[in-house]
Amino acid sequence: MNLAYATFRTPRVVHQSHPLSIPRRPTKVTIVNCVRNQPASASDIVLPVRQRDHDQSVESDFKLVGNSKFVRENPRTDRFLVLGFHHVEFWCSDATNVVSRFSHGLGMPLTSFSDLSTGNHTHASYLLQSHNLRVLFTAPYPPFFTPNISSGCDDHTASIPSFDTDRCHLFSRTHGLGVRAIAVEVEDAAEAFRVSIGNGALPVFAPVTLNGGGMVMSEVELYGDVVLRFISEEEKHGDKRWDFLPGFEDSVVDKGSCEEDLGLKRMDHVVGNVEELKPIMDHIIKFTGFHIFGEFTAEDVGTAESGLNSAVLANNDETVLIPINEPVSGKRRSQIQTYLDYNLGPGVQHIALSTDDVFKTVSKMRKRTKTGGFDFMPSPPPTYYKNLKKRVGDVLSEEEMVACEELGILVDRDDQGVLLQIFTKPVGDRPTLFLEIIQRIGCMVKDSEGKIYQKGGCGGFGKGNFAALFKSIEEYEKQLESKHQHC
Ligand SMILES: [Fe+2]
Repeated sequence: MNLAYATFRTPRVVHQSHPLSIPRRPTKVTIVNCVRNQPASASDIVLPVRQRDHDQSVESDFKLVGNSKFVRENPRTDRFLVLGFHHVEFWCSDATNVVSRFSHGLGMPLTSFSDLSTGNHTHASYLLQSHNLRVLFTAPYPPFFTPNISSGCDDHTASIPSFDTDRCHLFSRTHGLGVRAIAVEVEDAAEAFRVSIGNGALPVFAPVTLNGGGMVMSEVELYGDVVLRFISEEEKHGDKRWDFLPGFEDSVVDKGSCEEDLGLKRMDHVVGNVEELKPIMDHIIKFTGFHIFGEFTAEDVGTAESGLNSAVLANNDETVLIPINEPVSGKRRSQIQTYLDYNLGPGVQHIALSTDDVFKTVSKMRKRTKTGGFDFMPSPPPTYYKNLKKRVGDVLSEEEMVACEELGILVDRDDQGVLLQIFTKPVGDRPTLFLEIIQRIGCMVKDSEGKIYQKGGCGGFGKGNFAALFKSIEEYEKQLESKHQHC
């Protein structure tokens, strides 16, 4: 049961069918016109469902086969052009304080903002950006500041027009600190929305051209109360380019000379936890056309006491990687089930942030742990590092392997490359969402113009580290439980 949607109204989008359960396809969507954010299409009434969008080749019947039997293929079946991650948005009760903590902990400067000082009476939003990595934090203002509630356009000072004050309050009450939106840049956000709902996605926010023009935004449900947000730039806007989104003002920070830069470069993957994997995978594959990049079953990755099934969705270029987990019960409650219990339903479990120098990034992050930064999960036992030379001695130097052990960095590899990863403790009050810092080594290829780039997902997702990771998570949970028993 999705608690949040039981009482939320869906803003500006009127469903003919009931909007609660996934998957259920609405047959018609009506967009309510508002003053400053204009519908992206000429007509503001109906987005038709075209039969030609129903490509049977991407109808999904997802079935886990296990990592040993899985054969990676890229059928390039995306239903619309997806260019990459654009940002993730956290919904908070107070964005100012959360953004300060993340800025300090990750060394990411505040680069854009939209709040009372910019004329936004609906929500306070602050963007941290480091190279191509963008993380947005948004919190509501009191509703009595919001004009024109009776018109239905109660968000018209909002720079994120899909923002809904009541929904944000209920999101925070239900989930605590969490990710509301995974935003991807697409060629055409109106087309991505139309094709998605034509293939079963539930609409959350119909396409609009954002205040000031030049960019279009739309949203569909992904899982739980998390939305997949489509962002595109309009060609007709010429050379005008926004640092982030229209309606946001640039911070005074000089991005080129930020002393706080710890080297984080981009979003690598965003992981979700759900109760049941298959219906969600079938649903997302059906409306996006994404393919399965990899999978792990409980037998592949679980410890004796904890397990999960997991599959990774990817777009054609494999620049957008969306792993999704489901719990598998063992002797103890699965850590995925712990997440679901504390989050009161599905949601984003972790965000993997990519760096080109994990040693520098992690050592600097660790220095900030005791001054309000992020703490890391306990390091694996020394035995974990005894076999490191045998596993990755051909890629890492002696010094790097020593640094891995000193910093608690986990190492894994697949048939294509090497993965260095480390996980923070949960970033909020609840044992739910955490961060991963990641560096991928290898898989460098040339594109058609001779430009060298790294293939997405190089080195995998740490299947070989899952057992070590879960062991450390379980130890952490046992510590919490022992404290609880003493109360
Ligand atoms: Fe990850």
